[in-house]
Amino acid sequence: MAAGTVTRPGLDVLISGVSRIVARDLDRRETALTVAALLRENLPGLDLFTPEERAGSPDGYVSHVLHAEPGFSIVGVVWRPGQDTVIHDHVSWCTFGILSGIEYETLYRDLGDHLVEIGRAENRPGEVSGFAPPGDIHKVRNTSPEVGVSVHVYGADVSRLGSSVRRVYDLPVR
Ligand SMILES: [Fe+2]
Repeated sequence: MAAGTVTRPGLDVLISGVSRIVARDLDRRETALTVAALLRENLPGLDLFTPEERAGSPDGYVSHVLHAEPGFSIVGVVWRPGQDTVIHDHVSWCTFGILSGIEYETLYRDLGDHLVEIGRAENRPGEVSGFAPPGDIHKVRNTSPEVGVSVHVYGADVSRLGSSVRRVYDLPVR
């Protein structure tokens, strides 16, 4: 192995599997659910990440783009206990699987001048979920005392867009 090369066990099977699913040109919800089934069957271990990556950062959650191409991206996210996102939604479908920690999701609806909370979901290690916009306004927080590690697949090239986020919401929640 060349110096600096990172080995990512389990990544190749995800890339080829997601690539085949995206090529079927299903609607975005169907794509998210089909990718979820693939990810559930092929959920990588924590060795997908280097020990340095798994340590996270004191400055906030960290995203690692593991693969990006036109059509989809695979992103690892590392959260120390209590770290969270702002309220946001996405440009594309998303499927995610939890390797460690808890991704606690709070879901919102946009009522124009404010948001209302419409649901919560606790995503634990081994669990895989998928969703597609619209209606995907959420905030995510690692509520566990452990470092949270997860794999997210997005139906967009995040290396080109910069991220999968469509909009950040700073409206009041009432
Ligand atoms: Fe999100």
